[in-house]
Amino acid sequence: MITEVQTHHKASINDLQLMPRFAVLDPCLTVGLPPQVTAQTGMDALCHAVEAYTNDTYNSDFERLMCSKAVRLIHESLLTAYEDGTNLQARQDMQEAAFHAGRAFTRGSVGYVHAIGHALSGLYGVPHGLVMAILLPHVMRAYGSSVYDKLADLCDICAMEVDTPDGMISAEVRAETFLQWMEELKEKLGIPKYPDMIREEDVNQIVKWAQKEANPVYPVPEIWDAQEMKEFVLAMMEGARLEGAEKNE
Ligand SMILES: [Fe+2]
Repeated sequence: MITEVQTHHKASINDLQLMPRFAVLDPCLTVGLPPQVTAQTGMDALCHAVEAYTNDTYNSDFERLMCSKAVRLIHESLLTAYEDGTNLQARQDMQEAAFHAGRAFTRGSVGYVHAIGHALSGLYGVPHGLVMAILLPHVMRAYGSSVYDKLADLCDICAMEVDTPDGMISAEVRAETFLQWMEELKEKLGIPKYPDMIREEDVNQIVKWAQKEANPVYPVPEIWDAQEMKEFVLAMMEGARLEGAEKNE
């Protein structure tokens, strides 16, 4: 990623020459990471896997498999790695998860979490992983029924317990279970529910950059035009305002 110093616009550069031939995954190297960095980078890996999985347009079975492995490992180990940074098994699981998720989104691509998140982290200097963690469940909720089947798959892949009063376990109910798990995980990792950094005068710029980055390049489950994206950003601001008011009470 590069950031233009004057405008704070983030952009990515890519070239085959930048692609590594090998990756060495040594969990010992991550043992000293502070808990917040573990949480935020772990949530970024989750975001790569979930966005790649819900995009699906370019995925082959290989990308779907990589997403499944990554999400399962993160479900098992992110909280442990956050709470006990010396747990080498959890560290190794997270390293492998990040690697699998990276392989998945190399073809499957990321979506609006990244498009909007890049604009926010560039403008306000907030860490990438933190913004990803904050936005991930909100964007997935905003996609609505277009991602029910995919999120339901992820719920099954993690063998999550699904609670239904009437015994009907529909895709919507399983998707909701997965969404709630992401929201609860965020909370346990000390990540705020909403982004509180957005200034009203920046909203149009954020929408413009996110649109430029995502449309039509990212194979998102549904395409949002500028107005729809603006409504999403405004909803995030409103959420942050209410969250702030609640805290001050
Ligand atoms: Fe990312």
